[in-house]
Amino acid sequence: LDDLLGEGVSGRRVLVRADLNVPFDKNSPGVITDDGRARAVLPTLVALRDAGARVIVMSHLGRPKGAPDPKFTLAPVATRLGELLGSPVIFAADTVGADASGKVAALGDGDVLLLENLRFNAGETSKDDAERAAFAGQLAKFADFYVDDAFGAVHRKHASVYDVPAILPHYAGGLVLREVEVLRRVSESPEQPYVVVLGGSKVSDKLAVIQALLPKVDKLLVGGGMCFTFLKAQGYEVGKSLLESEMISTCASLLEQAGGRIVLPADVVAASEFSASAAHDVVEVSDIPADRLGLDIGPKSVALFAEAIGGAKTVFWNGPMGVFELAPFAAGTRGVAEAITKIDGFSVVGGGDSAAAVRTLGLDESAFGHISTGGGASLEYLEGKKLPGVEALEN
Ligand code: 3PG
Repeated sequence: LDDLLGEGVSGRRVLVRADLNVPFDKNSPGVITDDGRARAVLPTLVALRDAGARVIVMSHLGRPKGAPDPKFTLAPVATRLGELLGSPVIFAADTVGADASGKVAALGDGDVLLLENLRFNAGETSKDDAERAAFAGQLAKFADFYVDDAFGAVHRKHASVYDVPAILPHYAGGLVLREVEVLRRVSESPEQPYVVVLGGSKVSDKLAVIQALLPKVDKLLVGGGMCFTFLKAQGYEVGKSLLESEMISTCASLLEQAGGRIVLPADVVAASEFSASAAHDVVEVSDIPADRLGLDIGPKSVALFAEAIGGAKTVFWNGPMGVFELAPFAAGTRGVAEAITKIDGFSVVGGGDSAAAVRTLGLDESAFGHISTGGGASLEYLEGKKLPGVEALEN
């Protein structure tokens, strides 16, 4: 981005891919619960606006099926972005249609426009190269330059991420640069001891990253819904807890391969149902009642995990330890997060739910080394996969 700014962008139209895929309150439509991703792209938007560029921002939101769907409109995000920028954001009610074209043509220097959800167009996510390229061509016509600052989407081979930069002169935004630098540091030369904390619901989603990280880590701490498949593989009964039966044997072989480096919870908070008002108790993992489900790790587990984290020089954390959105099941995630803030070393929070947990639990963001805006993207980077968005920028 500095290179582009150095060339001078006053009066030029710049298409910025952002990841404004922010979470909304399930009970109050249009209310954003965590605007961290919008705040993360602000420096790029401010720099371009203040340099007099005509800024066209594009993003996806959720997973609509290639056609307009009011549930996934970016309109409330345009309003929030305007509040954060301190200047109004013009909103186009379509992505490449008449409204967008008219508003792009009418942009003045320093104006910021947000296009409607990219995924309202089938070409954005199409597996067909020609269909994607056709949509990318319509987007590219809007601008002179392309800036990718959507780290959360760089693992997607989508038109706005992969095909537009093949058409326009392209630049990495500061967020994408910083994210890639941090993840490169953690994956290529982590200072030892290196402790990884994984949570979230499914082992199957994390299998590739576990396999890639196991040879590099001193300890891999496993909490969240995924710990129950590991506990089952160790021979414990897990009651009604989340269980991926088809992954039990894989977990057993990972435990064997890890030779004690995978650390599982010692106790869990077992509840009668998935609800904030459910009856719940802390139980040892050997005593999970048949009619209960584990919704958080317990205090002994927090102490066990905190001890391992405390000795680390590098910590990577992805995935909550429990259902932190429900107050009775937030202590595990909070305890582990607090332990991470205290290390004498470098910590990375790997996007998605864990980044949202840091903010919604009111933890001090500055106490972490880096909070990624990309959940899937940071995991795929650590798995060693090529990220289409990064490749497109490097070409
Ligand atoms: C995310 O939330 O991880 C990014 O915004 C990417 O969203 P996606 O998984 O729907 O592509």
